[in-house]
Amino acid sequence: MNIIILGPQGSGKGTQATNLKERLNLVHIASGDVLRAARASDTELGREVRRYYDAGELVPDAITVRLIIEAIRRTSGSESILLDGFPRTVAQAEALERALMDANEGVDAVIELQAPLETVKARLAGRRICRVCGAVYNVNTKPPRAPGACDLDGGELYQREDDRPEAIERRLAIWARENEQLLAFYACKGIVTTVDADRSPVEVTDDIVAVIEGRGLPVAKR
Ligand code: AP5
Repeated sequence: MNIIILGPQGSGKGTQATNLKERLNLVHIASGDVLRAARASDTELGREVRRYYDAGELVPDAITVRLIIEAIRRTSGSESILLDGFPRTVAQAEALERALMDANEGVDAVIELQAPLETVKARLAGRRICRVCGAVYNVNTKPPRAPGACDLDGGELYQREDDRPEAIERRLAIWARENEQLLAFYACKGIVTTVDADRSPVEVTDDIVAVIEGRGLPVAKR
């Protein structure tokens, strides 16, 4: 089964994907993680990705689609996949559809996270990430025990390049521009469920699990 989780930046896609991985048997592919790994490489590709990523712009489809389809193909083929942050445009959705069709598959469910703009902006401004293990904190809603240090390994917490105010505004503007058409692409297939993400992470996860169970995906026992 292939599931897409989408929503504005800061709606909690990554947070939910991490929770869902613990509850369901699925592989989490986050386009942000895939692109951050590419961005870190000292190559032509890395420099190209960095240019768009750091400005809060979408990385060109030719690069993003290739990297994500490669990541999907690296899975065993029998696993359920949770796609987080991809697709973000109709062109990406069409490319995904073609790639899945080659494997006689399709997208089975789309979870749309909805939260007010003020909420997502405040969450992004407060997000901090561990340099060592990548654990995600929030100075307002999920502070670490010791300021600036990861609870798990003591690693330094940093703020993402694209969580600066100008980049946040740009990313949200792009989301507003692309989201309506992307949702319409999937809504006409009858596979979109909207979940209120302006609640505690656990409440949101419970709702998503109920949606997925309702669609017949086996849910692992905790
Ligand atoms: P990406 O890494 O995908 O970032 P994003 O979509 O901008 O999403 P975020 O990671 O900002 O938000 P999220 O919804 O995952 O929130 P999170 O759970 O962390 O993409 C980064 C960049 O890569 C893009 O700008 C672009 O350049 C490029 N890119 C990626 N995909 C692409 C694509 N398909 N095409 C082209 N380019 C692409 O939560 C945020 C904060 O809120 C955290 O601190 C968290 O603790 C807190 N929080 C979460 N949920 C709750 C809750 N329920 N209550 C309270 N606090 C919460």
